[in-house]
Amino acid sequence: MKRVSIIVSICLALALLVSGPAHAAEVTLTTACNQPEDYPTVQGLRYMDEYLQRLTDGEVELDIFPHAELGEEAETIEMTQAGTIDINRVSVAPVTGLAEVLEVFALPYVFEDEMHMHNVLDSEVGEDLSTHEDLIDSGVRALTWYDAGQRSIYSAEQPIYSPEDLEGQTIRVQPADVMVDAMEALGASATVMEFGEVYSALDTGVIDAAENNWPSLYTTGHYEVVDYYSLGAHARLPEPVLINEDTYNELSEEHREALMKAAEASKHYQRSRWRAMAEDAEEQVREAGVEINEVDDITEFQEKVEPVYDEYVTDEMQPFLERIEELAQ
Ligand code: GCU
Repeated sequence: MKRVSIIVSICLALALLVSGPAHAAEVTLTTACNQPEDYPTVQGLRYMDEYLQRLTDGEVELDIFPHAELGEEAETIEMTQAGTIDINRVSVAPVTGLAEVLEVFALPYVFEDEMHMHNVLDSEVGEDLSTHEDLIDSGVRALTWYDAGQRSIYSAEQPIYSPEDLEGQTIRVQPADVMVDAMEALGASATVMEFGEVYSALDTGVIDAAENNWPSLYTTGHYEVVDYYSLGAHARLPEPVLINEDTYNELSEEHREALMKAAEASKHYQRSRWRAMAEDAEEQVREAGVEINEVDDITEFQEKVEPVYDEYVTDEMQPFLERIEELAQ
């Protein structure tokens, strides 16, 4: 009997050793993302969590809820402001409602390519906008910026070669005024809708088109309910990893530093996962038979959106826009 209990105790001790630090985390940060588990943004957050745990000896961890388990983006942004969610990876578009100056990142054609956007995000522009006072006043700040590639239009109706092809098409846009006005300026009729509602809206013909990047087109299954993807790349929307401001301030200095370090490292990891997934998604979408077309002349589109720049570029935004333009190659 005694021998049995000694063996049981040894087994328990071994099990505890294998299962990692004996103490529970002191701080658990509820973290949201509306993308599925294997998506680069969730992989970025998982990487951040592992690194953070290593840096803090298991004292701080992220409890990650992917796939919109905590709600659609607009709703989870409010929950992050309120502190019900601590960390939230979102698209910049709906965050423009908290700080208008962020609209500079959502202006159509503002980034020339991937490298241009990375240079901007890694420069003082990215840093200054992460902690812009309007954002902080709204109750959040950005820890870092993830990548989301280019956004182009996909349609069940017809391919887009020139702005005329958008006339009469109803296109879903994210909840952000600048996205609505950009699409309307291009000639489409814009309908605001949450990401999770787009599949059935396309399927039932409530909308004709939507716009997004390769991985989103693929993982949502939208490619099953559209026929054309026209690579106009009208937007490149960076994705802030937001944190509730009180949560951020209540962390000890040591934990905060570890969090910043883990967030920065996860940005690089996320970018490498992004490239891999974008290629893979493109292959899958092409194989599924969606007709893909390049848009050779985007100047026509750029001319159409000039009024959006006139309307949206405020005096405060102007210096940011100039710095973005200077960083173009
Ligand atoms: C991208 C982005 C999401 C966003 C979605 C949208 O997929 O990663 O965070 O919700 O675009 O179009 O709403």
